[in-house]
Amino acid sequence: MILKRGGQLKDEHPGRVTRDGIRIHAAEDFAGMHRAGRLAATILDEIAEHVFPGQTTGEIDRLIEERIEAAGAQSATIGYRGYRHASCISVNHVVCHGIPGDKKLRDGDILNIDVTVIVDGWFGDTSRMYVAGKHSRKAERLIQVTHDALMTGIEAVKPGNTFGDIGHAIQTHVEGHRMSVVRDFCGHGLGRVFHAPPNVLHYGRPGSGARLEEGMFFTIEPMVNLGRPETKVLSDDWTAVTRDKSLSAQFEHSVGVTADGVEIFTLSPAGRFHPTYG
Ligand code: MF3
Ligand code: CO
Ligand code: CO
Repeated sequence: MILKRGGQLKDEHPGRVTRDGIRIHAAEDFAGMHRAGRLAATILDEIAEHVFPGQTTGEIDRLIEERIEAAGAQSATIGYRGYRHASCISVNHVVCHGIPGDKKLRDGDILNIDVTVIVDGWFGDTSRMYVAGKHSRKAERLIQVTHDALMTGIEAVKPGNTFGDIGHAIQTHVEGHRMSVVRDFCGHGLGRVFHAPPNVLHYGRPGSGARLEEGMFFTIEPMVNLGRPETKVLSDDWTAVTRDKSLSAQFEHSVGVTADGVEIFTLSPAGRFHPTYG
């Protein structure tokens, strides 16, 4: 009797972890990630109109927390290693993990808002850039290069490629524009957990690192600096800034490896992932 290959697919994806510790998820797990990713992306869509000069990052965070609750979901960051907010908001030379607070945004500020939600146990993690008021040409260039670096990295996601291929694509794009890739922070596996193997580096050599397999879920979240790549963490133990005070930008998507490529779980339903200019 001839075995029908197509019909067996689902059963070929049991709970499995690779020797690098990377979980291989089942076909039906994609739906859970899609729901979590869509909520996180929708909240980032809706928050755009609340970003303007004079607004505080604390108020933006409060609105985010309200929306997570209204959706019947949970914030992954509140209570995470002592963190107390529903978002990280990183302004200008803050690289990541900026803590929302009373400081008012000023005209020309650029900021990353990073939200992670839990929906039915699945984690959706995404961040993107916003501008308060009128931004400079150099800020626009930085945001564009960082966005394109993420999307170039995502294009390298398919079974058979390696994590090094992703990092190499990102690094090549960024350095080709004479900007630098932050080395001190990386993307991460996720799924029913927030941070899991592997560390997804945003630089690397082609063919290096673990091989991508269908069912792997992870984030890609390059941080790009206009100046040098070095960072330091402030005395609040969270806020990471560029050592040379240069502007920094970041975009993040949660993705899954499919049979022939990639599914982006955190696509913007409103098509607003990239801030619009003009
Ligand atoms: N969302 C961040 C990431 O992309 C992690 C934030 S952890 C926090 O991995 F505690 F700072 F919120
Ligand atoms: Co992340
Ligand atoms: Co994030």
